[in-house]
Amino acid sequence: MGSSSLIRQAGIFVVRPNKIFVKSYGCQMNVYDSGRMADAMVKSGYAETKDCAEADLIVLNTCHIREKATEKIYSEVGRLKALRKKNPDLKIAVAGCVAQAEGTEIQRRQPAVDIVVGPQAYHRLPDLVAKAGSGTSVADTDFPLRSKFSRLPRNRLPRGQVTAFLTIQEGCDKFCTFCVVPYTRGAEDSRPAAEVVEEANLLVERGARDITLLGQNVNSYNGVGPDGGKRSLADLIVELSKIEALKRIRFTTSHPRDMSQDLIDAFVECDKLMPYLHLPVQSGSDRILRAMNRRHTARQYVDLIRRIRGRRPDIVISGDFIVAFPGETEEDFLQTIELVEEVSYGRSYSFKYSPRPGTPAAALPQIDGDVASERLARLQRLLRKQQQECQRNFVGRTVSVLFERKGRKPGQLVGKSEHLHAVHAQATADCLGQIRKVEIVRSEANSLSGKLVSVREPVGGSPRRR
Ligand code: 5AD
Ligand code: SF4
Repeated sequence: MGSSSLIRQAGIFVVRPNKIFVKSYGCQMNVYDSGRMADAMVKSGYAETKDCAEADLIVLNTCHIREKATEKIYSEVGRLKALRKKNPDLKIAVAGCVAQAEGTEIQRRQPAVDIVVGPQAYHRLPDLVAKAGSGTSVADTDFPLRSKFSRLPRNRLPRGQVTAFLTIQEGCDKFCTFCVVPYTRGAEDSRPAAEVVEEANLLVERGARDITLLGQNVNSYNGVGPDGGKRSLADLIVELSKIEALKRIRFTTSHPRDMSQDLIDAFVECDKLMPYLHLPVQSGSDRILRAMNRRHTARQYVDLIRRIRGRRPDIVISGDFIVAFPGETEEDFLQTIELVEEVSYGRSYSFKYSPRPGTPAAALPQIDGDVASERLARLQRLLRKQQQECQRNFVGRTVSVLFERKGRKPGQLVGKSEHLHAVHAQATADCLGQIRKVEIVRSEANSLSGKLVSVREPVGGSPRRR
């Protein structure tokens, strides 16, 4: 029934709003989309819950990037359908890239799924929920001509949340031969600059101080400006930096080929753009880069990093790597190790190649699983060492921390440094949402800890080292 349920409480029937629970898998763009789907359902009368056991609608916002991520969804639905014993009206929706890639096949394989909704159709979720139920199932995986963003309700960031994601671009035209994204998310599409600025203003009004601009290929952003001309990502960052109460801007994920000079310059010229860049390379072998259709060489990538560091020496670089891509020899792999040694990464994400149905590389002869595991372990050992070195470099230094939330220990707050390190420090709750100076005293496994040294920091972050 509609957006409310009749339930029995202490012997009497009461009406309560239906509840939605959304679980996000995969990338940050899914986290953003999950929030927007919840917004759409709240607008049509639902309340959001963090407890799946009390939900009337469960949305799994899925990831198709590697096989493991996809398989997780089927086992999760298997578990969740048991909740129908208590709530027979429970609806289960599968959204995201698995929905887009597999469509109605999902309902064939797992009939407990009521709704399948692709990433371009989230504005239609309330409609689909209303249609589903009583044994019917519905699916919407079309790519509409008009963007979903203009049809979703306004972003309803929870009050008190200091950091926010803002999707500015979707889809990818690069067609790396291992990747499903061009198929699940479609062609590149940039949101108009004014729409992005309006949403950023709204997020800042609700308390956001650090906004990460998201896109599968975010540095290819090419949105239309209010005058009808095009805006680059650097233009957009300059525009957003005019929002007084917004202190920090970040962006992810970028492609090396789209790292334009104006964007590199923005790391120096725009105080609010933080010194952290996620720039995946995937492999250090030119042969493999070619087979992956990355359209750059290892040397071009290393030179690019050198140019960026020439402008902004303190920038922290992070990357993505794939080992055991079809045809990768020990020699190719060693070239990846060499590249990693030359670049030195502050953070990284590394994976074994996973063949994805419909992508060109899936049809190639595959590398033995044990070889892949052994290469991944070797690469990760080196990357972990570099992450630790990067963190240890900050010990003894004073950094600017934007405090986001309470820590696990009493009296402790957790925030982020400009270089995106999580930093723990003893601080009072009035520091939440504020930037404070912290002297780093220790490097932990995945974070730093320090002590507060500051009075309030001036607007625009810490002074820049050029
Ligand atoms: N197998 C393994 N890793 C992959 N990635 C993308 N597709 C695959 C795949 N088929 C990794 C890439 C990309 C990151 C988001 O996921 O490193 O940058
Ligand atoms: Fe996938 Fe990124 Fe390559 Fe696009 S650029 S195909 S999203 S790995």
